[in-house]
Amino acid sequence: MSSVQLQRAADVLKRSERLVVLSGAGMSKESGIPTFRDAMEGLWAQFDPEELATPRAFQRNPRLVWEWYESRRLQVLAVQPHAGHYALAALEARLAQVVVITQNVDGLHKRAGSTDVIELHGNITQHKCSADCRGAPTLLDLAALSQDSVPPRCPYCGAYARPNVVWFEEYLPEDALSRAMSLCANADVVLIVGTSGIVQPAASLPYLAKRNGRAFLIDVNPERDEIAPICDLYLQGTAGSILPRLVALISA
Ligand code: APR
Repeated sequence: MSSVQLQRAADVLKRSERLVVLSGAGMSKESGIPTFRDAMEGLWAQFDPEELATPRAFQRNPRLVWEWYESRRLQVLAVQPHAGHYALAALEARLAQVVVITQNVDGLHKRAGSTDVIELHGNITQHKCSADCRGAPTLLDLAALSQDSVPPRCPYCGAYARPNVVWFEEYLPEDALSRAMSLCANADVVLIVGTSGIVQPAASLPYLAKRNGRAFLIDVNPERDEIAPICDLYLQGTAGSILPRLVALISA
């Protein structure tokens, strides 16, 4: 990636009035959280996330799925946002509008100070009743749940508790997705960071921005992803290295 490209991206971002940031698992990699396409490590190396992150896997073996998510939740709580997360949060003080739409469930954007974050796939630190017995989602406080069973049970209906995340084959939260779609349709700039652009419907958001809003798309990824071909600028590199440099140029 050349310094000319970086400067051009900073100039476009500086002029933006309706910036949407779309982040994926690569955004959290430098905080120590492996991406979905990284091989799973240790105890979980024998599993494929797509075998565990599904309603059927939870029905078949609720304890296994619960323990996998608990190990990931504790991992998320043990790591910190990195300079890239803080750079995105800092953009809010410099630009007219910054909304972060993330596929990540780790909550790191909010922990870094971003105030308008749409968590398309939920949040691994939250829990809900697997039957959503009091409306979707029926959120539960893990600390208040009886630990007599694994997974613990909903105090209202007795169904198992589960992480408040979106599994494969499940619909995204309606309000989150419709707000994300309208923001992308009206964005003038979309900054895409750390996503392979494979998983729908998140992967369609940049196309929506390009088609409806004629937005200027900037892609940040060490590898060329599925979205790079429709982007106006492709900045090859990591979130932790590129985003702080962009913010420094915007602030200059
Ligand atoms: N900085 C930026 N991007 C990075 C970095 C980094 N340090 N390291 C890796 N990447 C890029 C990879 O090149 C890849 O293109 O991040 C992308 C991660 O892609 P995926 O693992 O497919 O993650 P993501 O696109 O978020 O997957 C979407 O799929 O499995 C489901 O729900 C899950 O939210 C996830 C969704």
